[in-house]
Amino acid sequence: MISVFENRAPKVFFILGFLICFSLISVRVVGQVSPAVFACDATKDRKVVHYGFCNASLGRDARVADLVRRLTLQEKILNIVNGAGNISRLGIPKYEWWSEALHGVSNVGPGTNFSSLVPGATSFPQVILTAASFNTSLFEAIGKVVSTEARAMYNVGLAGLTFWSPNVNIFRDPRWGRGQETPGEDPLLSSKYGSSYVKGLQQTDDNADPSRLKVAACCKHYTAYDLDNWKGVDRYHFNAVVTQQDMDDTFDPPFKSCVIDGNVASVMCSYNQVNGKPTCADPHLLAGVIRGQWKLNGYIVSDCDSVEVFFDDQHYTKTPEQAAAKAILAGLDLNCGSFLGQHTAAAVKKGLLKESDIDNAITNNFATLMRLGFFDGDPRKQPYGKLGPKDVCTAENQELARDAARQGIVLLKNTAGSLPLSSAAIKTLAVIGPNANVTKTMIGNYEGIPCKYTTPLQGLTASVATKYLPGCSNVTCGNAQVKEAKKLAATADATVLVMGIDQSLERESFDRVDLRLPGQQPLLIKEVAKVAKGPVILVIMSGGGFDISFAKHNDKVTSILWVGYPGEAGGAAIADVIFGYYNPSGRLPMTWYPQSYLDKVPMTNMNMRPDPPKGYPGRTYRFYTGETIYSFGHGLSYSKFSHKIVKAPQTVSIPLDDDHVCRHSLDCNSVEAVEQLCKKSVTFDIHLRVQNKARHGGSHSVLLFVTPPSVHNSPRKHLIGFEKISLKGKSGTLMRFKVDVCKDLSVVDELGRRKIALGQYVLHVGNFKHTLSLRI
Ligand SMILES: *[C@@H]1O[C@H](CO)[C@@H](O)[C@H](O)[C@H]1NC(C)=O
Ligand SMILES: *[C@@H]1O[C@H](CO)[C@@H](O)[C@H](O)[C@H]1NC(C)=O
Ligand SMILES: *[C@@H]1O[C@H](CO)[C@@H](O)[C@H](O)[C@H]1NC(C)=O
Ligand SMILES: *[C@@H]1O[C@H](CO)[C@@H](O)[C@H](O)[C@H]1NC(C)=O
Ligand SMILES: *[C@@H]1O[C@H](CO)[C@@H](O)[C@H](O)[C@H]1NC(C)=O
Ligand SMILES: *[C@@H]1O[C@H](CO)[C@@H](O)[C@H](O)[C@H]1NC(C)=O
Repeated sequence: MISVFENRAPKVFFILGFLICFSLISVRVVGQVSPAVFACDATKDRKVVHYGFCNASLGRDARVADLVRRLTLQEKILNIVNGAGNISRLGIPKYEWWSEALHGVSNVGPGTNFSSLVPGATSFPQVILTAASFNTSLFEAIGKVVSTEARAMYNVGLAGLTFWSPNVNIFRDPRWGRGQETPGEDPLLSSKYGSSYVKGLQQTDDNADPSRLKVAACCKHYTAYDLDNWKGVDRYHFNAVVTQQDMDDTFDPPFKSCVIDGNVASVMCSYNQVNGKPTCADPHLLAGVIRGQWKLNGYIVSDCDSVEVFFDDQHYTKTPEQAAAKAILAGLDLNCGSFLGQHTAAAVKKGLLKESDIDNAITNNFATLMRLGFFDGDPRKQPYGKLGPKDVCTAENQELARDAARQGIVLLKNTAGSLPLSSAAIKTLAVIGPNANVTKTMIGNYEGIPCKYTTPLQGLTASVATKYLPGCSNVTCGNAQVKEAKKLAATADATVLVMGIDQSLERESFDRVDLRLPGQQPLLIKEVAKVAKGPVILVIMSGGGFDISFAKHNDKVTSILWVGYPGEAGGAAIADVIFGYYNPSGRLPMTWYPQSYLDKVPMTNMNMRPDPPKGYPGRTYRFYTGETIYSFGHGLSYSKFSHKIVKAPQTVSIPLDDDHVCRHSLDCNSVEAVEQLCKKSVTFDIHLRVQNKARHGGSHSVLLFVTPPSVHNSPRKHLIGFEKISLKGKSGTLMRFKVDVCKDLSVVDELGRRKIALGQYVLHVGNFKHTLSLRI
């Protein structure tokens, strides 16, 4: 860690020789040594100006090739692991590739630390809540703030430039301990989240050089990774058996969008196997799909110790050298861990791979650092060079963290007369629950150190007088303070119960086995509700959803809010919603299932589609038709919005070549969405009228779903577009969605081919439905 002493405001020492008789004494200006890690520092080593890779007037490819050419095999191998070694003879310092920035700059990876110079960074809500905002501008705005704070920390030697975020795995099963890190269960929302957040992290304002990176993002964990540790099955040993159809329409889309739409600089392969092959050793997935089909411009990194895991735990190869060779030949460029550092030289010696294979890997790694300016000398003289501690935790950044939480919070239930509470009418508010005054719980995992915290209690107390009782000693709630809680609620004008869970019950390496609120939480809620004098507001803080049917159907529980893990300003945002300073607009990014769902669905069954003969109900709103506690997209407002499709075609015709079989056959229920058909890009517009019928103004996310004709086991319904709008009270607006038949309406068939189904489609917005028919 860099000491504070060295990092005070830049000092300039002048050694002045000004006596005439000492005319040969040179006048030197010694700037403070830059604490940031970078190569090609001419002030340390004059030789670097002669190296092609340090020469900014050459093209990046030529510079990278020049560097690779200069390295010995040993030096090359230093650069395929996250703790990359220095190459002192060429003026290249060591570099730590592993930093994290899931929802704010984090110190979970070794590449980033806080110090008294930068004691904290803005901590945004955990991703699952941000996703609930359904606001792509927000996703990007957060990314932009995070990359600004990251650059500021890099400049003072506290952070790297390569961040292994976001996590865009589909939240397939409600038990997953890492579901909180993801944008939820829907492929479109996850794709938009991933590409928008990546753009926010990576994009510079420099139009002249669009491939330059502000920081490098990484979409992880490729692929079909969404089980950590469930009833003894862990991610290091799990073989995810995935159909080609599920792969193509569920697991792949967010990664594809990261690479193609977001231009992400990195993809991380996962621990698990997919169909019998470890993802980090699968040439089809890495070299084939990510680099070949999607054309990743960047590097492929393993999850931390994935290579060691497939050797040691999965016994996928006989020798460690074979494991090293398999990974690199599959297309892996960088190993988080030290396995490749230890075994690659021997693998080359044994003839299992060629030195040129390693050249490919380091070329991708160095090219990424090159785009980050790592080889351009002093970062203080580059774009973003002026950023420093003053740019971290600014009032504006922290306000965005509060706004993000507000935009995501979901109002699940609201009885007339319950919310919003009038702060003027409330003399005392009872605030009860194990999460009512928590700090760290609010920032979830892959967290940093926040600028400051506003707990729910603090947020509420800023508006009204409160009486607080934790109610349980922690979220496990073995023994609730029922009597004391009842006493408070019976006399207070309103009661807010802040319940839910934390990382002790859902986290990395720990999946849930139960969807009910833990311990005596339900008892506490029911007993308090029975005697409460005023409205009872149940606030659930969690990543995953719950079976809270007992509260949903209890008239005395007058409102329910889900607040995710709402970030450093979560308590302020909760108060903003409760007192109506902000009109809630979040919508659930995942289905809330009943407890009974777990009996029918082993977490290890990857199938998205139902299998009725086996009693398997399928997963997510796209396939599951059974009972839900709250469904995907559910979310109330203090306003009342209505939707109407005012213009949309009744029929859409797709052009087919004269010799297409379907022109002469009545049996065709779908046509292949092949390039020549989709090149013509058949599109149509849907015009919607959205009306806010209430006095209250507010934001509203409009979700456009389609039910395709039922062929090829297609989803019963899927999201094809969404947009968050803001409407004043008693006002309306017209919206337009452009629908591309190939991109938006096509489905994936059993073999993974994109098809356009022929027949009746139903478009849904809110309760409004419109039928259109697609013909040849
Ligand atoms: C950098 O590259 C340019 C373009 O090839 C060349 O003209 C120049 O001499 C190089 N600079 C040095 C210091 O070698
Ligand atoms: C890395 O730096 C150390 C200490 O300066 C030095 O001893 C070592 O030789 C360097 N390694 C390489 C590969 O340059
Ligand atoms: C962060 O701290 C760790 C452990 O003290 C240290 O190894 C690492 O070099 C530090 N990284 C930075 C960027 O300061
Ligand atoms: C609430 O939490 C804050 C932050 O940890 C703490 O300072 C405060 O004392 C707590 N309030 C109560 C009433 O326990
Ligand atoms: C929760 O509280 C109980 C009872 O005080 C204690 O036994 C348990 O260890 C606590 N759990 C955690 C995660 O702190
Ligand atoms: C979406 O987020 C942006 C960025 O925070 C914000 O300015 C905008 O108001 C939000 N949109 C709506 C409709 O709430």
